[in-house]
Amino acid sequence: MSIIQEAVQAVVKKAIAVAPDAWMPGSKPDPLLAHRTGLIGAPISRLDGPLKVQGQARFAAEFPMEGMVYAALVYSTVPRGRIVTLDTRAAQAASGVVLVMTHENAPRMKPMPLFMSKDKAAGGDDLPVMQDDRVHWNGQPIALVLAQTQEQADHAKSLVRVAYDTEPATTSFAAAKAKGTKPGTFQGEPLKLEIGDAEEALAGAAHRVDAVYTTPRHNHNAIELHAATLAWNGDDLVIHDASQGVAHMAWSMAEIFGIDEKQVHVTSPYVGGGFGGKTLWRHHVLAAAASRLAGRPVRIMLTREGVYRVVGGRTNTEQRVAIGAQADGRFDALIHTGVVAMTAHNNMPEPFILPARSAYAAGSFKLDVEVATLDTLANTFMRAPGESVGTFALESAIDELAHAMKMDPIELRIRNEPEQDPTTGAPFSSRHIVEAYRAGAERFGWNRRSMVPGARREGEWLVGMGCATATYPYYRMPGGAARITLTRDGHAKVEVAAHEMGMGTATAQTQVTAERLGLPMDKVTFCHGDSRMPGVVLAGGSQQSAAIGSAVRAAQQELFAELLKLCGKESPLHGSKSGELVGRDGGLAKLDDPGCSESYAAILARADRDELIVEASAPPPLEAQHWSMHSHGAMFCEVRVSEITGETRVSRFLGSFDCGRILNAKTAASQFRGGIVMGLGLALMEETHVDERNGRIMNAGFADYHVPVHMDVPEIDVIWTDIPDPHAPMGARGVGEIGITGVGAAVANAVFNACGKRVRTLPITLDKLVD
Ligand code: MOS
Repeated sequence: MSIIQEAVQAVVKKAIAVAPDAWMPGSKPDPLLAHRTGLIGAPISRLDGPLKVQGQARFAAEFPMEGMVYAALVYSTVPRGRIVTLDTRAAQAASGVVLVMTHENAPRMKPMPLFMSKDKAAGGDDLPVMQDDRVHWNGQPIALVLAQTQEQADHAKSLVRVAYDTEPATTSFAAAKAKGTKPGTFQGEPLKLEIGDAEEALAGAAHRVDAVYTTPRHNHNAIELHAATLAWNGDDLVIHDASQGVAHMAWSMAEIFGIDEKQVHVTSPYVGGGFGGKTLWRHHVLAAAASRLAGRPVRIMLTREGVYRVVGGRTNTEQRVAIGAQADGRFDALIHTGVVAMTAHNNMPEPFILPARSAYAAGSFKLDVEVATLDTLANTFMRAPGESVGTFALESAIDELAHAMKMDPIELRIRNEPEQDPTTGAPFSSRHIVEAYRAGAERFGWNRRSMVPGARREGEWLVGMGCATATYPYYRMPGGAARITLTRDGHAKVEVAAHEMGMGTATAQTQVTAERLGLPMDKVTFCHGDSRMPGVVLAGGSQQSAAIGSAVRAAQQELFAELLKLCGKESPLHGSKSGELVGRDGGLAKLDDPGCSESYAAILARADRDELIVEASAPPPLEAQHWSMHSHGAMFCEVRVSEITGETRVSRFLGSFDCGRILNAKTAASQFRGGIVMGLGLALMEETHVDERNGRIMNAGFADYHVPVHMDVPEIDVIWTDIPDPHAPMGARGVGEIGITGVGAAVANAVFNACGKRVRTLPITLDKLVD
């Protein structure tokens, strides 16, 4: 038996033993952990796959509406100042044009409620939207054209003439830092933590590293462009959107237009990738405002350039990591501090210190994120904000320390494996990163790696291996709720205002629900992507699965209780308590007496009911307060660096994960791989170039902004422990974001091992590798 299999067996036994009371404090038993028929974890293909390949899945820009007109945006070309003249006459006279909207005729609107500032706020910044003549960043929309066709709108917008009174702007990171920094806060908490005197411990340490790592701005590049098709009916607004927060969108748009949130109906059945960028940006607000002015339904779809002008991405960071270690490798000091760029009007100081809070034991800690303020487009969440770039710095530094100490970098990490959360003292809910490292090392052939850089050569190619820790927290946001409609034919419809952005959410949740209710998958329909469904569920923070799962569990308990009320004396289940029951073979059965059962159809038929509808809210997310909860991973990379050109080719990659129970082996593997592919982009190519003279993004499109293409991506191997987390609903922690974490460092560490060059500035382009 392998190390992993042994660990899994031990922990599954323990998890099952504790699960009945312990997936969260004060909860009732979740029989799902103890009772399985094989659907959970099965590699089931996405149920929406056929719809997508047939073009039947309708995306935001594909909803037809009678009398619809098309929008195009005009973007400012200066970073800061006032609009002096805005000549729209030629645009208005152009063929097909219905409306040109500027700050002079836009209706009065409140600013976008800033994401994370309130429960359902979804806005990328809280600046006024086309309410005055002010320009706040280079690329800000200053006019919107509506026309009968997209081509007419695009042509007309080219006829708008603008003159600015330009004002001085802060458009370079260096200038922003020179003006001073302020402390960063994330989710209401300061991004600052000191335990002991880390600088003193560093100075006195037997071994130390102390280096600065920098990462650039990144843009969101979901394959589906940001789009919305919307219409007013009186004061009611319907928006077919590309959204990772339909309830958030509905509430936020209601705030902006001064109507009740029930008057806004947001649908978003399919989303072509979100990654943190499919939130509320001003194209939504402008399209809705223009629709109101014109009295016509509007479709807006940003061009790829438009996404770069309007939708924020990941900000740039400058991070110091310093580690002081004893002779045996144990950390006396862990310092991770630095500066990120932000605007004055968003709240996303890239929280790069999050991994250092929980990943390693150390005698002292000094963690701090400071913010420098620029006049640019707001930055925002982007897959594993904080962890993706924070692990680049932290995990590179650990590799540097291991090299300096002539120690295997995996061994160094294992020597600093914490017993409990090193900065809060909370117990870990489940942490099997050492097993993940050991299994990964064995599979990847880590023992073939030379400790000496530059030792392996194949012609002009220097070949090296590197590894790094991946980590992402378990979150579950409050607000989860679900409705189950059970019909007499034994079919269950489950509704949650959740999102399917291509991750496989609907498929995995259909599996879980079918398992919970004891139904075959084709008797379960999971409905999502509509703000009129129950729940305030964000597809973000890798927490959607847990949020849905806990809500569906609550609804299932309610359903069982209601069914029992229908079971009269004639029912074999009469007198049972709902906690004793499980769903099995299309009905209810006693957990400890499977022979005692009755089908849903029989229960409903006897009660003369065609259907039973229940709705319930998820319990508050207390589990993450009691335990330190994180997904873990060990990333292994092999690269080939050309000695002549400096070109880096990733030749092999393995992700070995510990994320709790895996709900669907196929869609989870796809999430891991997708995260790793995005991580290869972060490591080797992604970089938003800003003209520092005027704050203009210069590479606003796929021709100039490079993301990995097929030829850049080797076969990616993924394995996982599948050890259930006894304290997470369904035993599952998130898998959406962890895949990108650790990849930047695994690549950088492999490059160092290949050629002896330590690159501390992402991306690792060839100019940094040729002498
Ligand atoms: Mo993710 S950055 O929380 O969509």
